[in-house]
Amino acid sequence: MLTAMNIRPTTNQVNGPAIHVQGLEKSYKELRVLRGVDLDVARGSIFALLGSNGAGKTTVVKILSTLLKADAGTARVNGFDVVTQAARVRESISLTGQFAAVDEILTGRENLVLVARLRHLDDPGAIADDLLTRFSLTEAGSRRVATYSGGMRRRLDIAMSLIGNPPVIFLDEPTTGLDPEARIEVWQAVKALAQGGTTVLLTTQYLDEAEQLADRIAILHQGRIIVDGTLAELKQLLPAAKVEYVEKQPSLEDVFFAVVGDAAGDGHRGDAETGSQDRMTRSSRK
Ligand SMILES: Nc1ncnc2c1ncn2[C@@H]1O[C@H](COP(=O)(O)OP(=O)(O)OP(=O)(O)O)[C@@H](O)[C@H]1O
Ligand SMILES: [Mg+2]
Repeated sequence: MLTAMNIRPTTNQVNGPAIHVQGLEKSYKELRVLRGVDLDVARGSIFALLGSNGAGKTTVVKILSTLLKADAGTARVNGFDVVTQAARVRESISLTGQFAAVDEILTGRENLVLVARLRHLDDPGAIADDLLTRFSLTEAGSRRVATYSGGMRRRLDIAMSLIGNPPVIFLDEPTTGLDPEARIEVWQAVKALAQGGTTVLLTTQYLDEAEQLADRIAILHQGRIIVDGTLAELKQLLPAAKVEYVEKQPSLEDVFFAVVGDAAGDGHRGDAETGSQDRMTRSSRK
């Protein structure tokens, strides 16, 4: 059974799904982008919404984050209705958009302190330092963001979205445009989030990203969720595997890491301070 179960919370339940979407429809003039989207995301899980360019992923995220109104259907986030309880939804979420929203002139730490101040939190400096540690940006924290690599910017962007500990976070194409190493850095950050109990809904065009990260994967196609399940469930949709003799060729990714891994480990890449953890990941892949 691959269809998501439709468990509708009757009140603002803590136990219901973190995100519940039913019959969502949205058109831009004649263009019918969403034609009845149903999905449920369990608390503390990572859910990947896969779809090609223009499938409507960002449209779903915008509706769930109260930036856009659906034409029909219902959506609840953290138990709150996105239309009638929009303010409560906004308190429950953070949204990291398709393009990083960090200030280039400020340092990484200053960006974090600024957001913590804007949210009127106590001890913004301590909050910033904690997030810099969690995202392996401590050394880079005192440098202007203009000097950061794409992966570091993305990590900072995600770190900023965590200020105030929202229970649900939306990541719209968190790794589009990043190189393979930077993608792995972001993946580690996202995995750590879910381990900490945060519910993550991410959109992606990359099958491998969904495979690496997601507890559950849904494919949005022609306005509907055409499949929704765990990776194992999705794989069962294919015919049973045939045993064949195949000479294994290295993948492009294997080659990339074999060639680039050492140079990056020696600090040739602009962000050598991203920590031994990243380098361990790379060397363990060789
Ligand atoms: N404000 C708008 N006005 C008109 N059409 C829009 C608007 N926003 C999105 N669209 C169209 O709706 C469709 C879905 O867009 P959406 O941005 O949700 O797709 P997406 O899956 O996020 O794509 P991508 O992978 O390129 O980010 C596209 O055809 C897009 O051109
Ligand atoms: Mg998009």
